[in-house]
Amino acid sequence: MLAKIPYDLSRIDEEDIDKQILRTAIIAELDAINLYEQLASMAEDENLKAILLDVAREEKTHVGEFLTMLLMKDEEQAEELEAGEEEVDELLEEEEE
Ligand SMILES: [Fe+2]
Repeated sequence: MLAKIPYDLSRIDEEDIDKQILRTAIIAELDAINLYEQLASMAEDENLKAILLDVAREEKTHVGEFLTMLLMKDEEQAEELEAGEEEVDELLEEEEE
């Protein structure tokens, strides 16, 4: 379930290690959100379902923590995140017209 990248952090340039760690951590948190939501959808006990969904929500906070740190360390990612947001805004505006 967990993405297998990167396999080997020892081969990564020292300046990129923290960014790779953060991206890997984000992948793990996103996997966790999907896992807990899927488990919640299968749970028959309503309390268990509620706990699983609460944990899934906490994992979204963890995504936010790692993403915040990644954006502090990866200026290009910060710029491209904004570019992506602008592209979606433009596409949605075009659809409304
Ligand atoms: Fe987490």
